[in-house]
Amino acid sequence: MTVTPETKKKVVLLREQLQKAGYAYYVLDEPIMEDTVYDKLYRQLQDLEAEYPELVTADSPTQRVGDKPASRFTAVRHNIPLYSLENAFNSAELAKWQTRWQKQIENMPEFNYVCELKIDGSAIALTYEDGILVRGATRGDGVTGEEVTQNIRTIRTIPLKLSLNNPPAKVEVRGEAFLPLDVFAAINQARSKSGEALFANPRNAAAGTLRQLDSKIVAQRKLNFFAYTLHTDGTQQKIDSQWESLEILQQMGFLVNPNRKLCASLAEVEAYFQEWDTGRKNLPYLTDGVVVKVNDYQLQQRLGFTQKFPRWAIALKYPAEESPTVVKDIIVNVGRTGAVTPMAVMQPVQLAGTTVQRATLHNSDRVTELDIRVGDTVIVRKAGEIIPEVVRVLKDLRPDGTVPYQMPTSCPECNSALVRPQDEAVTRCINSSCPAILRGSIIHWASRNALDIRGLGERIAILLIKNSLVHSVADLYTLTVEQIASLERMGTKSAENLIQAIAESKNQDYDRILYGLGIRYVGSVNAKILTENFPTIEELSQASFESIEAVYGIGEEIAQSVFEWVRIADNRTLIKQLQAAGLKFVSSQSTLDSVAQSQQVLAGKTFVITGTLLSLKRSEAQQLIEQAGGKVTGSISKKTDYLLLGEDAGSKLAKAEKLGIPQLNEAQLLELLNN
Ligand code: IVH
Repeated sequence: MTVTPETKKKVVLLREQLQKAGYAYYVLDEPIMEDTVYDKLYRQLQDLEAEYPELVTADSPTQRVGDKPASRFTAVRHNIPLYSLENAFNSAELAKWQTRWQKQIENMPEFNYVCELKIDGSAIALTYEDGILVRGATRGDGVTGEEVTQNIRTIRTIPLKLSLNNPPAKVEVRGEAFLPLDVFAAINQARSKSGEALFANPRNAAAGTLRQLDSKIVAQRKLNFFAYTLHTDGTQQKIDSQWESLEILQQMGFLVNPNRKLCASLAEVEAYFQEWDTGRKNLPYLTDGVVVKVNDYQLQQRLGFTQKFPRWAIALKYPAEESPTVVKDIIVNVGRTGAVTPMAVMQPVQLAGTTVQRATLHNSDRVTELDIRVGDTVIVRKAGEIIPEVVRVLKDLRPDGTVPYQMPTSCPECNSALVRPQDEAVTRCINSSCPAILRGSIIHWASRNALDIRGLGERIAILLIKNSLVHSVADLYTLTVEQIASLERMGTKSAENLIQAIAESKNQDYDRILYGLGIRYVGSVNAKILTENFPTIEELSQASFESIEAVYGIGEEIAQSVFEWVRIADNRTLIKQLQAAGLKFVSSQSTLDSVAQSQQVLAGKTFVITGTLLSLKRSEAQQLIEQAGGKVTGSISKKTDYLLLGEDAGSKLAKAEKLGIPQLNEAQLLELLNN
């Protein structure tokens, strides 16, 4: 395969980025990116080099374990190198690893794996002579680290003397130094108060703390340590497996992570991985994956090491919710309220399982604060349901010749001047006939919780506006099959379907109509409350501000917004047109019923219960849910809203996870009910 100049450039760029990041992290002790980010860039380079071996150079970051350590502490050479671990990001990669190592073994014996949590901290090596701690060192580049014995002695969970009667002459213990989350938060809080730079994450804070010159400060920082590797000279006791060595470490007085498990198959490994994807959220420290180790030492020995990794272990990582990418463009999006939102258009990246190419920059203040520019490498984050956002710009990686981004002064859609009220962060287009605002209004009107018009999405909305067929949502009800069929990529059949869907929407309930109008602050729930208290649009239009605000659940902002909206002449005309088209601005009994229901906190929500609950019986939990208007069913489906999760949950949990169904524990359920 020939290498394109683009690929070459990419490889050179990745290498530069990784080199800079490695230098900043290892030598300067001032990390410029998080390690999930580093991992990703590293992986990209690794993949490219695997595909084009001719691009591999001796100085590539993939060709060595790490960068040179800084020289502030005494350098020490590790007797046995501290290897790092190969990463797997999914089951296929895990299976591939198993196939690979098993190929190496003739006459495969029975075997099992030890699964351990991958603690997101900093690896250290401890040397004990005749049972006494004589040296503690950082990992460094794996071959040479730094002597930080004084600092390590401050870690309370590291015994200064092994609790063994007849200790071997020499023992080496490895493990992870880490900062518990609460300690990390307290450190950053204190740093923020005293104006010091904050640590990006507990991992960097732990690494930085280990390399603190003043061990008094280290002692205050309350580092902790989980031991996971034991090397002895074998004079006292022969150890046969990783599992056994973890037990011995515990006997020696070390803190060993209790959440370990022996697994006989990859299926069991994956179940452990899944279990801890949920479980890790409740741990007081960070884990970024699971380490899978072949248990038997003899088997480990037969497998040995590659240049960098043991062949008998692998790290199965949880998907990163943050990732680096490059900004290709910065655009602004005009929403249905006229709000102008700057957005970064990026090289597509995988984030928590989805491909992301756009991320919000929120508003112009945020743009200024980030100083984001086209060409920048940025960190994007996607957490849960939240729209992806740019969290950070890696300024060290900024190419030459970039220019600061300027927010436009006129609307990209209608060219009218944008305004920014003094006390607001939002920039707006205030031209009520701006096509972007109209487009947003139509999409909102047709959306699922509003008039629910199937087939009317962004593409059709754009075409309807472009062809001057629609100037307000009321015009939707005057459209003909012929008009729609004449639009780009629309046949008669789909035009008929759309006309049908629009006609059916005339029968939607009043509360959906009110929500569909897109009055500021009026969401589905507020719309229901308003239609219950003002069962006709006439009553709402004539209501005083005070009487709207007096409604339980309606605050001042909403009341003000509604009160003003119904007084605008264009809005009154719109209502008249919609009424003429056959839409009913009157509460039906069914709406009133559903309002009564909506005041029950779990109305319409379907629960599935799994596992053993701590304080409630299942029947009691079910009763509580039903009293609050919810429903309990026996099996998980797409319609399930929540999984109530007890101890020892089984297959329902796996299924819920697959479908992305949110989970609640008992405490969270009770909290929901109390709200
Ligand atoms: S075993 C040869 N076990 O992960 C064995 N490492 O990405 C190598 N880590 O450098 C390490 N928890 O800092 C092992 N339970 C665990 C671990 C663990 C965290 C870290 C360690 C290592 C890195 C590899």
